[in-house]
Amino acid sequence: MVQDKTIVLGVTGSIAACKAVEIASKLTQEGARVDVVMTKAAQEFVTPLTFRSVTLRPVVTEMFDLASEFSIEHVALAEQADLVVIAPATANIIAKLAGGIADDMLTCTVLATEAAVIVAPAMNVNMYQNQVAQENIAKLKARGFTFVGPAYGRLASGAWGLGRLAEIEEILGTIRQVLGRDGDLAGRRIVISAGGTQEPIDPVRHIGNRSSGKMGYALAEAARDRGAEVVLVSAPSTLAPPVGVKVVQVQTTLQMRDAVIDAAAEADALLMAAAPADYGPATTVESKIKKEVETLTIELVRTPDILGEVKGDFIRVGFAAESENLIENAKEKLKRKNLDLIVANDITASDSGFGADTNRVILIDRSGNVESPPLLPKLEVAHKVLDKVVELLQR
Ligand code: CTP
Repeated sequence: MVQDKTIVLGVTGSIAACKAVEIASKLTQEGARVDVVMTKAAQEFVTPLTFRSVTLRPVVTEMFDLASEFSIEHVALAEQADLVVIAPATANIIAKLAGGIADDMLTCTVLATEAAVIVAPAMNVNMYQNQVAQENIAKLKARGFTFVGPAYGRLASGAWGLGRLAEIEEILGTIRQVLGRDGDLAGRRIVISAGGTQEPIDPVRHIGNRSSGKMGYALAEAARDRGAEVVLVSAPSTLAPPVGVKVVQVQTTLQMRDAVIDAAAEADALLMAAAPADYGPATTVESKIKKEVETLTIELVRTPDILGEVKGDFIRVGFAAESENLIENAKEKLKRKNLDLIVANDITASDSGFGADTNRVILIDRSGNVESPPLLPKLEVAHKVLDKVVELLQR
């Protein structure tokens, strides 16, 4: 999403200006051209040299700097930008933008650009909650600006409240989402399930499995970055919910079935990356089971097969985690579950499958076409799967 894009990063006078260095660095590492524009106040907190060192680009600090490649044409940056991000954004810059003031390079750029603008406020809680600040934010939102944060936490004054710069990952997620708005899944609703469900035995124990949810979360992020509206039905997971994705938290297979059926009603595609427990205790004991007997037998009953039950006019993608006969088992599941595509992976490999950050999968479609991409990070595997989904949707 970010590769080869020109991103103008406006930095204004807040202690959080130091965090903008990480934003500039990460975007540059992902292949973006990052042009940092600093206000005078921002330069009191961080030097232009810091940004120059991470972006390997000149930093714009002056409107009338004859040495700058942008100063002759003061709207050049505005025209070249694919996206403008202001992080951190003070109450002052927000007020100026709401009022259409253009008295420095950053305000000129925002006023003149046709690119999307993301604003990540950072300020004292009272300033943020001040009516005039709220009115300015509402005005900019109504004009199509995207706001991310602020977060609740400890502020520069030592007080606690709403006003901290949003987490860097949240800002980066918003950037990817906004850049991907017109992607090949724009206007599509994609439902994704992730993680291993848990079937309670008693209030402290459950039956679970080793699924981490990483593949499903990567799919949700990738689909969001290609413009889709994403619903992620997630079993308990330690992963952070992806920005811009609607997350429905569930615990059991039964709950996952209900949430998936509900979300799939208007879906264009359903991707079942979750590992729903196939069996759960016949009954859940209300109080903690005490260690009173030598052997304990728990009767297990079958849970519903979600893909077997969910019906509708959408692309159906299943996953097959197998320890033997990978392709035969996957093909059998593709047929049995009436799938358009199955993503098979061998869970016995240590660099692939449960908990790993990489995955080696085999994609098999209804017509029997088989694709075997190499070992890749799960986010890249997600894009390979979505390439197939896009192809199937176009058919
Ligand atoms: N699946 C499902 N409902 C279940 C179990 C699995 O919808 N109760 C989905 C999974 O999300 C996956 C696909 O079915 O997309 C295959 O899951 P898998 O566990 O490999 O297959 P099972 O049908 O459970 O068969 P088995 O465990 O016997 O291999």
